Amino acid sequence: TTIHRHDYRPPDYTVESIDLRFELGEDTTLVRSRLALRAAYDRSGGERPLVLDGHRFVLRSLCLDGTPLVPEAFQVSAETLVVPSVPVSFTLEVETELRPQDNTFLEGLYRSNGMFCTQCEAQGFRSITYYPDRPDVLSIFTVTVVADRERYPVLLSNGNPLDRGELPDGRHFITWHDPFRKPSYLFALVAGKLACIEDSFTTCSGREVSLRLYLQEANRNKGEHALRSLKKAMRWDEETFGREYDLDCYMIVAVDDFNMGAMENKGLNIFNSRYVLATPETATDEDYQAIEEVIGHEYFHNWSGNRVTCRDWFQLSLKEGLTIFRDQEFSADMESRGVKRIADVRYLRTAQFAEDGGPLAHPVRPESYMEINNFYTATVYNKGGELIRMLRTLLGAERFRKGMDLYFERHDGQAVTIEDFVQAMADASNMDLGRFRLWYSQAGTPLMEASGSFEAADGVFTLTVRQSCPATPGQPEKQPLHIPLVVGLLDRAGRELPVTLFGEPVPGPATRLLEVNKAEQTFHFSGLDSEPVPALLRGFSAPVKLDYPYRHDDLVLLMAHETDPFCRWEAGQQLAAQVILALVADQQAGRELKPDPAFVAAYRAILTSGEPDRAFLAEALTLPSEKYLAELMPVIDPEAIHIARRFTIRALATPLRNDFLAVREACRSTRPYGVDDGRSGERRLANLCLAYLMSLEEQAITELCIQQYRTSDNMTDTMGALGPLASCDCPERSQVLEDFYRHWQGDRQVVDKWFSLRALSDLPDTLDDVRALLNHPAFELANPNRFRALVGAFSQNQPHFHAPDGAGYRFLVDQLLRLIPLNPQVSARLLAPLTTWRRFEPGRQELMQQELRRIQALPNLPRDVYEVVEKSL
Ligand code: ARG
Ligand code: ZN
Repeated sequence: TTIHRHDYRPPDYTVESIDLRFELGEDTTLVRSRLALRAAYDRSGGERPLVLDGHRFVLRSLCLDGTPLVPEAFQVSAETLVVPSVPVSFTLEVETELRPQDNTFLEGLYRSNGMFCTQCEAQGFRSITYYPDRPDVLSIFTVTVVADRERYPVLLSNGNPLDRGELPDGRHFITWHDPFRKPSYLFALVAGKLACIEDSFTTCSGREVSLRLYLQEANRNKGEHALRSLKKAMRWDEETFGREYDLDCYMIVAVDDFNMGAMENKGLNIFNSRYVLATPETATDEDYQAIEEVIGHEYFHNWSGNRVTCRDWFQLSLKEGLTIFRDQEFSADMESRGVKRIADVRYLRTAQFAEDGGPLAHPVRPESYMEINNFYTATVYNKGGELIRMLRTLLGAERFRKGMDLYFERHDGQAVTIEDFVQAMADASNMDLGRFRLWYSQAGTPLMEASGSFEAADGVFTLTVRQSCPATPGQPEKQPLHIPLVVGLLDRAGRELPVTLFGEPVPGPATRLLEVNKAEQTFHFSGLDSEPVPALLRGFSAPVKLDYPYRHDDLVLLMAHETDPFCRWEAGQQLAAQVILALVADQQAGRELKPDPAFVAAYRAILTSGEPDRAFLAEALTLPSEKYLAELMPVIDPEAIHIARRFTIRALATPLRNDFLAVREACRSTRPYGVDDGRSGERRLANLCLAYLMSLEEQAITELCIQQYRTSDNMTDTMGALGPLASCDCPERSQVLEDFYRHWQGDRQVVDKWFSLRALSDLPDTLDDVRALLNHPAFELANPNRFRALVGAFSQNQPHFHAPDGAGYRFLVDQLLRLIPLNPQVSARLLAPLTTWRRFEPGRQELMQQELRRIQALPNLPRDVYEVVEKSL
């Protein structure tokens, strides 16, 4: 069954309050729920039945206003409870029995590593009890948790503790009360033997908030960075958006079995441990940064998501797009803004563009879905974030902030729509956002084809921009969008030119915002002495593909002189992509691959430029990924891409060997590692140089790499050495990998890294190795992180996953056939690499479809998996 956005109807019954009592047991868990319900519709038109969502539990009893309901008074179906006749206002008591220890879906109440925990977004609450499990039913929750005192000394739920005490049989209880009305998807419960590290934060209005991070005793030393990140996020949201925290305590719990990254439950965030736990020895700089970002993300949801929530799940981007934008800005302010923007663009252009160009393409605000969990996508999250960013660009920072304030003020405590958000922006800015709204309803990545011409006689540069958008499923025709195109002009010496739009006598600032809102538009820039080089889409001002016929020397000029970090980086990426795609064509035609001296010269220039931003330099020296190159090809040839890209790495490393060695040397430090020591850019650049050097397959370099592995005092440099070694056909490889495993076998996060290293290896026998690892004692089918570390990582290994005989596809599906019954949600997500089959040549198309059909043929396919398979075949 498909659910359509236009079928939305407000709830017939609202829940004024809910009292929950959980008796957690080793065998069964009892849940008693008492709902104060009230009819919210006009009864003069007739009585409507009470319909509650619920499944996957045993119903023990049902009472209405204190009287047990006789069997004739209600109906239970596979997914609902229907009570045909109820009073206007009444209480309903429901008793259900669950078996959390058998819940491998990791949705609702489940067990992980001896503790109880929950995940209710999007629709997990309905597997706990009968409830109107929809985000527009907001209620006051009071929750009592009862459990064995020895095994579960820590009992948590949302809000503040009200009461606690001892019970017979060694049990105890705590009652929690959340003063904020919230939808069921924000409910959370945790029980276990957990260590707690504490801190506190004083809000801008002087309130003291207790911060508590719960983790396993063995991980007690790994939570400091998460807590520090939380405090930074709290301060940042006050300073940047004027948002203050609203409860007396903020709790975060780390769990090992988790389907996604983390969850913003009110006052009680639950996190995948990988986004909490870190020490310098076990986490890389990248891990540290990801933790800061996810901690920020969940914290920011307290306003963008919890205080103002979604009316229905079609509005998911209302909270997710906005919160992604907020966490991106937070990270940009904590680290290097330019480098952060580049990383975000890189992700968008691989993950989201691929989604937008595939069979599951959907607008940021989808029109329909079968399973909402399938719509926690790069489109809803990251493209959604780009739409917020475009609004800020179009409105300007000040009016944007006014719009945000108005949105929070108007809708605090409500469940609203994306339209409400856009309206607040329009009202606060007096801007016409009519055409802009199409971004929310039109799927697909717009293509902007730009061209320039220069009239030397009158000093005018003319920029012509044509926009179009390819058809996507259900949307054959597209309308032109309102696109902010931020541009600058450079002269031939690389100097920024004052930009004067024709007809405007006042010289503008160097960077100009062009508002594109027609299929074709022309902009004239006047007062120029010579032909300029345009810097287009500065800051990646819109999530589009931009085509401009740059010449080789234009790109070299931009690489050297452009002031906007994104454009500067992009120039190098375009140059590299041109070179590598030409090699792909050579490879396909059976021609010999030859290095391009002009390209080598351009890369030598940046490598030796002395650019002080080392992280930027590392970005600039990193070739476009195989996935991004694939995105640029009409028919993807993964083998040729892999060969051409590897050839290019070697073609750079060979002549630049000594430069790479020198830069690496200059970036390495003898000082011990420090988190936030300001040297992560240097480490990244040094490790990139090492990776280039390792492509030379030189004994001396391999020794250097092994030496780095042996002497490293931090996981960043350890992985910097292990990454290249994992793909190195040298006798030391297996020994080092074994040593690494032996040393770290007690650390889940590091063992995950070890599985991924092996799954991502270039070596020819990688698939055999991965198959063998399925039988490794540390492999766990039911643990999402572990499954993703091995099977998920392998599906990202382009040449191996896309092996021409289909062995990679078959392997993935063999494993998914085992996972589907245990965890449909994670299975559906891991199917994504197969859904892009149309992008390949007929041989692979057939093999990929065959594998999808193998899943399709399963009896009782879960809805998650069914939707992905049906839509992609
Ligand atoms: N709201 C969470 C976040 O963005 C994601 C939870 C999604 N979980 C799910 N099962 N769909 O951080
Ligand atoms: Zn989120």
